[in-house]
Amino acid sequence: MQRLLTGVQPSGTTHLGNYFGALRPFVSMYKEYESMLMLADYHALTTLKDHAELRENVMNAVRDYIAIGVDPKQATIFQQSSVPAHTELAWILECQVTVPFLMQAHAYKDKVAKGLEANAGLFCYPMLMAADILMYDTDVVPVGIDQKQHVEYAREAAAKFNTAYGETFKEPKEMVLRDSATVPGTDGKKMSKSYGNTIPLFGTKDEIHKAVMAIVTDSKGESPENVYAIHRLVKDESEIATLYKSNKGKYKVVKDALADDIDAMVAPMREKRESISDADVIKILKDGAERAREQAEAKMEIVRQKVGVTI
Ligand code: TYM
Repeated sequence: MQRLLTGVQPSGTTHLGNYFGALRPFVSMYKEYESMLMLADYHALTTLKDHAELRENVMNAVRDYIAIGVDPKQATIFQQSSVPAHTELAWILECQVTVPFLMQAHAYKDKVAKGLEANAGLFCYPMLMAADILMYDTDVVPVGIDQKQHVEYAREAAAKFNTAYGETFKEPKEMVLRDSATVPGTDGKKMSKSYGNTIPLFGTKDEIHKAVMAIVTDSKGESPENVYAIHRLVKDESEIATLYKSNKGKYKVVKDALADDIDAMVAPMREKRESISDADVIKILKDGAERAREQAEAKMEIVRQKVGVTI
């Protein structure tokens, strides 16, 4: 069976970009693979400094994943930090790649371009992500387009290691869905926690409505592009085509319809989400950590021998 792995940083609440870009594709295919869904909490540390918020985000994210249809018996759901071998492997991979190579990574480059000071964790971020992926001999990584380069970095790190020490790591492939590669936010730019333009997946009906009403509409066009770009992900295009045709220029009507359609999509998931207790979440993470640790340890024994630290 091929292996599938994806990860999400618990640095905020799950939004429609995460859902359509990575989580929904994961849900639609994970049963055909040996699958892992990882909470990249050490990646989140590159930006999030509030420990209570991080803990809360992790608990909420697990609830979200179960609510959207991930069965923890059929996919290993785990925290990155609960498998210390990830940071160990990240270090080994960092020793394979050069500083100029890491300087080209988007996450780092974007921060520097904004005149912000990046921490060293952000700089090394792609090698921690490479470790997440390579540790489990992952074949496929479902992600939004913004993470494509990081999967390429994982391939490069695998190739470099294999050349230096002999065949050890599989080279993974990203899976980017054409229709949801970049989900736009309320301002038309990529939906992102850091841009403050998100529509929360599990917001209340009012929160979703408010976020949808804030979507920027182009006063030139008859069809509000940013609204439509999200609507076509929520509902089949053939179903919404008539709505947009018969309501040209009536932005409020189509926005109301979008908010209602998001709410209808989320309502059954919201109900399921409410039935998940803290104890359920803790048990899911504990089981997931045990499974992941066992696999990671087996891989690291090989890696440690290859690099020569096992005596
Ligand atoms: P993160 O937490 O920024 O995003 C999680 C997933 O959501 C996708 N995504 C989007 N897709 C389409 N449109 C958008 N507006 C949008 N916003 C977010 C992202 O592409 C991603 O797939 N470094 C990763 C987390 C990570 C990871 C991994 C992923 C750590 N280790 C190993 C895969 C495999 C990140 O920061 O994603």
